Amino acid sequence: MKVSVIGAGNVGATCAEVLAHHEIANEVVLLDIKENFAEGKALDIWETSAINMYDTRVTGTTNDYSKTAGSEVVVITSGLPRKPGMSRDDLISTNAKIVKSVTEQVVKYSPDAKLIVVSNPLDVMTYCAFINSKFPANRVFGMAGILDTGRYKAFLADELNVSPKDISAVLMGGHGDTMVPLPRYTTIGGIPVTELIEKSKLDAIIDRAKKGGGEIVNLLGTSAWYAPGSAAAQMVEAIIRDQKRVFPVCALLNGEYGLKNIYMGVPVILGKGGIERIIELKLNDDEMKLVNESAKAVKEVMDVLDNLKD
Ligand code: LAC
Repeated sequence: MKVSVIGAGNVGATCAEVLAHHEIANEVVLLDIKENFAEGKALDIWETSAINMYDTRVTGTTNDYSKTAGSEVVVITSGLPRKPGMSRDDLISTNAKIVKSVTEQVVKYSPDAKLIVVSNPLDVMTYCAFINSKFPANRVFGMAGILDTGRYKAFLADELNVSPKDISAVLMGGHGDTMVPLPRYTTIGGIPVTELIEKSKLDAIIDRAKKGGGEIVNLLGTSAWYAPGSAAAQMVEAIIRDQKRVFPVCALLNGEYGLKNIYMGVPVILGKGGIERIIELKLNDDEMKLVNESAKAVKEVMDVLDNLKD
C-alpha cells in the first residue's frame, strides 16, 4: 500500500513521519518542487525507522511524479502557508495555480487514488483539486475538521482537566473563522459538554478553537504543522485500513443541509472508498444559521476561484 505526500514542508513532512511511525502504509513517497528537499526530509524520517521500530519505506523525490505512481492515497499539502496578518483566503491565487498543477500530475500517475487536500484556503483548494482531477467527489476531500475539532478538544481537555481521548465532537462549515463547532454534539465520556461547563466558558473555548490556526500563526510567524500533519495522517489511516471512521471532513455537498455545489466541512464516514456517506445531522435553527453563514463565506471564495484567469 503506497501513499504519496505532495509538499515536503512542515505539514507534509509531519504527515509522512506519522504515516511511517504508525506503519499506516508500506511505502510513503514525499515529493517537493525544491531540489533535494523531499529527499533530505525522507532520508531523515527513514533514519528513524530502526529507532522508532517500523518498516514503512520512506523515499523522497524532486518533482518526479512517476515515483508516486499507483498511490492509494495522495495528500496534497503544496502551497504557501499564512504569515501573520493574512487570512487563509489571501493565499488563493498563488495556491490555486499550485494545487491545479499538482493535481493534474498526481492523477496522471494514480488514477484510482483518493485525494486529501490540506492546502489553504482549504475548502476552495479542495474544490480546485476536484475540478482539475475529474475524479468523483467521494475520492476528493479536504482535511480541516479533524484539526479544528482536535483544537477544540485540546482546549476542553485543559479546561475540564480530562483526557482528550474521552472527548467526542462535531464541527461543521468552512475552515475559517466562520467554522461551526456544535456544543450540542460534544460529549465528554458520553456526557453532554453543556452539563460540565458553564456557557460563558464554553463560548470562549469555541471562539478560541475557531481562531486556533491564527493563534499558532501569531506565535510562530507561520502556520501550524504537528496537528495538521497528524490529522491528515489519521484520514489516510481510515482509508487504508477501511476503518469507517466518523470524522468532520471537507466534502462536496449535493443537497445535504440544503446546500449544493459547495465544498465544506460535514460529518462523514471515511473508509476504503473515500467518503462512503455524508451524515446529515438534525440541526436547530441557530445552528443552521451559522452553517449557512459559513457556507456563504466559502461560496464567496469559490467564486473568486471561478473568476481567476488561468
Ligand atoms: C491551520 C492551517 C493549517 O488551521 O489552516 O493551522
